Amino acid sequence: MKFWIAGVILGALSFTGGMFYQKSRQSEPAAPLQEASYHGGFQAGKASKDQNLRAVPEDSSPRATHDVRNGQSIMAAIKQAQPGDTVRVFPGTYTETVYIDKDNIRLQGVIQKGQWPELNGEKRLNDAILYSGNNIIVENFRITKYKGNGIMGQAGNNFEIRNNIIVDTGVYGIFPQLGTNGIVEYNVLSGIEDAAIYVGMSDHIHVAHNEVFDNVAGIEIENSRHAIVENNMVYNNTGGILVFITPGLPIKTTYDVIVRNNFVTRNNHKNFGAPGSTVAGIPAGTGILVMAADEVIIENNIITHNKTAGILITDHGHASNITVDEESEPNADKIMILSNLMEHNGYDTISDVKALLLTEFKSGNPDIVRVGPSRDSCINYKDRYITVGVDSFPSCSFTNTDSIKTYLLDTPAPPRIIDKTNQGKLTYLGICTGCHSYTGRLIGPPVEKIQSLYRNNPKALADFIARPYKKRPDYPEMPPQDYLSEEVRLAVAEYLLKLEN
Ligand code: HEC
Repeated sequence: MKFWIAGVILGALSFTGGMFYQKSRQSEPAAPLQEASYHGGFQAGKASKDQNLRAVPEDSSPRATHDVRNGQSIMAAIKQAQPGDTVRVFPGTYTETVYIDKDNIRLQGVIQKGQWPELNGEKRLNDAILYSGNNIIVENFRITKYKGNGIMGQAGNNFEIRNNIIVDTGVYGIFPQLGTNGIVEYNVLSGIEDAAIYVGMSDHIHVAHNEVFDNVAGIEIENSRHAIVENNMVYNNTGGILVFITPGLPIKTTYDVIVRNNFVTRNNHKNFGAPGSTVAGIPAGTGILVMAADEVIIENNIITHNKTAGILITDHGHASNITVDEESEPNADKIMILSNLMEHNGYDTISDVKALLLTEFKSGNPDIVRVGPSRDSCINYKDRYITVGVDSFPSCSFTNTDSIKTYLLDTPAPPRIIDKTNQGKLTYLGICTGCHSYTGRLIGPPVEKIQSLYRNNPKALADFIARPYKKRPDYPEMPPQDYLSEEVRLAVAEYLLKLEN
């Protein structure tokens, strides 16, 4: 993920012309809005209001339980486990990487008298828990001191990740990549150098009741569809909640996202993204950012004390360090801002935004800033906020999303089957795209560059990823992918070398 706002001033002129006149028409307070619910978006909606949400189907067959105690290995128990089994982990400290490559596993920490099972990577290990299976539950772990990911899903469908405390685990905290139908709830995450919760290239996702603080990015919905982000506490990150498209990834859209009932406050943390890394460009003080995503509803959030802006809406054209992808539509269209409580945002904003305020003859500190084209967007109660670039948005035709409880599927997604015919592709999508895009720099170098290095030599590429070493002074080290078999590494190498965007 990468930012932004270069060339804002150039772009500004194109949409501010005439706004002064529009504004003077608006001095009458707007008539109260008729209550109405949203009827767009994915329609599942069978879940009743108080039912607990589930994404993993109940297994009717009897399950075996494997207990792991301090001093034993979680991975050894996973190897023993059959689909349908539960692996219970008792309090203790476990220094290992757990890789779940089978379906229907529940990995469950047991918390006793306030003692948790802790996965501790001692700053040597890369990842704590990786899963590529379907129907996976991971709950009740404390995870700390890893260099790569806390919990990463690699193309598994139907997952539940809940009740984990994840502190200082490197690049991503909880990172489901390429998953359909999943829940991330009741987790606490802090000290993550990139995104604490990163939903990547996924569909039908529910992110709720998490506390994320002291991270570079709090919650990211990236190249994903049909997602609800609600009831989260998001504070003291560099950027709070981000909904956007990263260009150059194989799945090119983000749309149908509801961000509601969150606290998004004081996201002013100094940016500590790895120098040169993709998030290093987020301006500190960004509450909610929407970039190039469509059909995003922002409702009933408390958005306060974010010093650059409470809500920032932008397109790819205004982002720096973004290589525009011709296959990704670059604008943030159909953005719907309903009632939100916004106060004391934009009080120490970047100079580009200050200049934009002036072009609209406004003063004060902006709650909402929009740059770049944004077709068919709307905003309710506009007069409550100090805004830039949204004077031309009409009121929305509805005031709430009460009719939508969840975008999870009523019946679980079919398991994703990884076999010889699609192994290279799914490995690329599920793992490599977390750090590599085709054209631009993410955490690692662009695939284009890699292709020119290894053109006719997939074997050498497969060997590198098993034992990467530091090559580029301005990049972090790539985590080894040695948990993948030689065959899988070769398959992904061959796939990557043939890719065209
Ligand atoms: C957590 C982030 C991350 C993931 C996941 C990742 N990479 Fe990388 N990759 C990097 C970084 C960072 C570098 C640059 C390392 C350097 O130059 O020191 C890199 C470099 C590379 C290179 C360059 C090798 C060279 O000789 O210059 C190749 C090839 C590569 N990655 C392939 C892959 C493949 C294939 C996958 C998926 C199986 C993958 N990477 C997953 C971060 C990642």
